Amino acid sequence: MDQSKTPYFQALLEYVDAGVIPFHTPGHQQGLGMDRAFREFVGDNICAIDLTPMPGIDDLLQPTESLKEAQELAAEAYGADRTFFLINGSTSGNQCMMMAAVNPGEKIAVPRNSHKSMLGGLVMSGARPIYMQPEVDEELHMDLTVTPQTIARTLEEHPDLVAVYIVNPTYYGITTDIEAIVELVHAAGKLLLVDEAWGPHFHFHPALPISATAAGADLCINSTHKMLSAFSQCAMLHQKGDRVRVDRLKAVLKMLLSTSPNLPMVASLDVARKQMATEGPALLSQTIELAQETRRRLNQIEGLYCFGKEIQGRKGVFDLDPTKIAVTVKALGYTGYEASELLRRRYNIQVELADLFNVVALFTIGTSRDAADRFVAAFEEMARDDRPVDIFAPSGILERRLKKGSYRLPKIAPMRMLPRDAFLADTEFVSFADSRGRICAETISPYPPGIPVISPGEEITGEIIEYLKLELKAGVRIQGPYDDELRKIRVVQASAAGGASLGA
Ligand SMILES: Cc1ncc(COP(=O)(O)O)c(C=O)c1O
Repeated sequence: MDQSKTPYFQALLEYVDAGVIPFHTPGHQQGLGMDRAFREFVGDNICAIDLTPMPGIDDLLQPTESLKEAQELAAEAYGADRTFFLINGSTSGNQCMMMAAVNPGEKIAVPRNSHKSMLGGLVMSGARPIYMQPEVDEELHMDLTVTPQTIARTLEEHPDLVAVYIVNPTYYGITTDIEAIVELVHAAGKLLLVDEAWGPHFHFHPALPISATAAGADLCINSTHKMLSAFSQCAMLHQKGDRVRVDRLKAVLKMLLSTSPNLPMVASLDVARKQMATEGPALLSQTIELAQETRRRLNQIEGLYCFGKEIQGRKGVFDLDPTKIAVTVKALGYTGYEASELLRRRYNIQVELADLFNVVALFTIGTSRDAADRFVAAFEEMARDDRPVDIFAPSGILERRLKKGSYRLPKIAPMRMLPRDAFLADTEFVSFADSRGRICAETISPYPPGIPVISPGEEITGEIIEYLKLELKAGVRIQGPYDDELRKIRVVQASAAGGASLGA
């Protein structure tokens, strides 16, 4: 196929060129009815191609023309058998994968450090999760990946598993040995589903970890908007081989995707694929080089550490995505949250993620050398002994906690009910501080990275209460609970929880 073509984008341009008189949605009718200030800012062109599925424009839910060709081009570019465009991010991708692959009550092995959208998939599908513990790096305060050994043990202990689901890479850019995992899972006759939200670029450069499609996963999702150039919310779901029921997958997509997709977003997927297929290796070479050079410069600053190839080979670290730079700031006395706030307030720099010990910066094909220089210069100043006095000082919270040794990631809480059953059960609110022993009915995730510390169906342990209190004190944003400040938590009513049983 001709990868320089963008058939879907082209179809939208042809509609605009034809000067059709619109009596259809969206109501702003190519910008004419739109608030003027907004339209002037976003521009006429984006309004002109914000159309609706109709003859000549094709339909995301039933593609037969230009969109079918655009998805076929994407499948070829990614080495998949089929590719589906998604307009509600990898969040909808996770939900679709789960709904397509597992039935209520069927077992699926999942890492406990999955994104919260995987839990949404579990609630929707009614599947029974078998949680796998990823390796953990206590020094860096970071979850790593699930190893092939853990997968092999899980397959042995649960021969009735239907599928295995992994997150590869992690939010921090660490990958597992996915080829070994594909082999194990397929040898056992199970499906492998991969959340590759953070690796849409892997397929286009030999210096990056192997992609899920190249490794032979049955289903995988990419957040094209995260590391490539599509608009926010744009993602792709790739399918390969003959293990997945494609009719079921298509039915699920038709159920979960909007009937009114935003067409500039859909077109941006078509264009992002062309960009990678035609210029990806060259663009990514520059990005990788800039990221590696920046990592070297940051590592020369006393008090900072950015992990790199030297950790490869540790348990849970098979390969690394060099375009993500995690700067460990704990030796400066700052929490990652404090460093992130300082970067923003004083240096006008916004990072992707902060946690207790680290800030994470994404280097993408849009990162300029000037931006990288300013990032390094900011850290040079933050690390100086005689740093300006007006910058806020470390709160000391990290130091105190490190002394007390109470910074450990909490152990996985025992699962007392299926996520779906707990989510749908009768619930009540109790004080978070007094919730020990109760069954949680909501998902509580520091965001980013959006990995639940506790999720529906799990018992709230004392360790989890202490950990979340520490994260809240350190300034983390929490997503998921009904009560934003987590003074109260939604738990399963005692009467409903009393009979809770996970069965065999
Ligand atoms: C591992 C992982 N999977 C899925 C998602 C959801 O992706 P999206 O924001 O594209 O819906 C995220 C978001 O951060 C993520 O980190």
